[in-house]
Amino acid sequence: MKKIISVVGARPNFMKMAPVHKELQKYKSRIIHKIVHTGQHYDKKMSDVFFKELELPKPDIYLGVGSKSHAEQKAQIMIEFEKIILKEKPDLVMVYGDVNSTTAASIVSSKTLSANGRPVPVAHIESGLRSFDRTMPEEINRIITDVLSDYLFVTEPSGMRNLKREGIDDSKVFFVGNTMIDSLKFYLKKIKGSEILDELCISKNEYVLTTLHRPSNVDDKTNLKKILNIFKNINRISPDVAIVFPVHPRTLKMIDKFRLRNFTDEINNLIITEPLGYIDFLKLVSNARYVLTDSGGIQEETTYLQIPCLTLRENTERPVTSEIGTNEICGLNEKAVLTCIKKIESGKFRKGRIPKLWDGSASERIVSILREKI
Ligand code: UD1
Repeated sequence: MKKIISVVGARPNFMKMAPVHKELQKYKSRIIHKIVHTGQHYDKKMSDVFFKELELPKPDIYLGVGSKSHAEQKAQIMIEFEKIILKEKPDLVMVYGDVNSTTAASIVSSKTLSANGRPVPVAHIESGLRSFDRTMPEEINRIITDVLSDYLFVTEPSGMRNLKREGIDDSKVFFVGNTMIDSLKFYLKKIKGSEILDELCISKNEYVLTTLHRPSNVDDKTNLKKILNIFKNINRISPDVAIVFPVHPRTLKMIDKFRLRNFTDEINNLIITEPLGYIDFLKLVSNARYVLTDSGGIQEETTYLQIPCLTLRENTERPVTSEIGTNEICGLNEKAVLTCIKKIESGKFRKGRIPKLWDGSASERIVSILREKI
C-alpha cells in the first residue's frame, strides 16, 4: 500500500486537486490519498463551499493556520506539517500551484526523512510557470517549490522552457496539461443548476465580470484607485453593461482601509457580491461579455471558454493564454483597457485557441505517471 498526502490551503488549490483526488480513488486498493488543509483560507466562502461543490471529502487533517504575515504563515504550516509527515510517513507529498501552503509543505517534505530513510518526494502540480517578477509573492513560491520537487507536472509549453533554463533535470519534468481545466470541463455540466444570473438580475452577455486580489493592485491605494477608475469608465464604451465584482476578503479590507467606498458608489451598474462558489462563478465567467481580472487561474479559464480576458497586471506567468488564448495583458493602463473593450464591442477581438493538453485528462496522466514511479 502506498500513501500520498496532498496539501492544499488557498482557494485556487482546491479545483487543482479535486480531479487528481477523483483519479486516485480509482486505485484506492493500492494508494491511500490523504488531504491536509493548512487553513490558509478559512472563510466558508473561500474554502468549505469548494470542498462541497467539488465533491471532495472533508480534509483528513486541518492545520488551522489562518492569515498571518508570509513568514509566520509559512513557519506555522511547516511546524505543523512536519509532525504530520513524521506520523503519517507518506510515500509522496503533492502540492498545487504557487500559494504559501504549497511552498511551506514542499520545504518540509524535502527535508524530512520518510520510512525508507530518504526525504519524502514532492510532486508539484502546475510547475514551471514564471512571471519573472520577484516582487510577486507567488513567483518566489514557484521557484522554491520547483527546485525542491521530484516530479514537476507542467501545464503549458513555457513551463517546459523555464525549467530547462533553470537546469532542472528533464527526467523529473512532465508536460501533462492543466488539472484546473479538468475541473472546469467536468463542472461546466453543472452550471445549468446555478441561479446566479437571476439572483443578480443580469443576463448572458449583458455584464462584465471582474475580480481583484493581487497585493500589488489592492494593497496600494493609488493602484486600487486607478483600477476603480477604469471600472468607472467601462460604461463609456460598453453602455449599460453591469459590472459584477465578487470581492475577495483582502480587497474588501483594503477598500475600507483606504476609504474608497464613495469611489465604488460612483461606478455605474456595479454589483458587488461576496466571494462566490465554484459553480456560480463558472456560470458567471461562461456568460460574461468579457472579464477584467488580476487572477492567474481566471486567465486560463477564460482562454478555455474563449471569453475575452483583460488582465490588470504588467505580466503573466501563463503566457500561453495571451499567445494563443483570449488574454490581453493590459497592466493598469486605462487606455489599453478601453482600446481592448472597443475591439470586443466591435467584434474585432481575437477568438483564441485552446492550449495543447487542456483536454480534461491531465489528472489521468499525472496519476498514471505516479503509479509507475512511486
Ligand atoms: C492567496 C495566494 C494567491 C492566490 C489567492 C487566491 C499566497 C502568497 N497568495 O492570496 O496566490 O491567488 O490566495 O485567493 O499564498 N482572508 C480572509 N478570509 C480567508 C482568507 C483570507 O478574510 O479565508 C483575508 C485575510 O485578511 C488575509 C487576506 O485575506 O490577510 C489575504 O489572505 P492570504 O491567504 O494571505 O492571501 P490571498 O490574497 O488570499
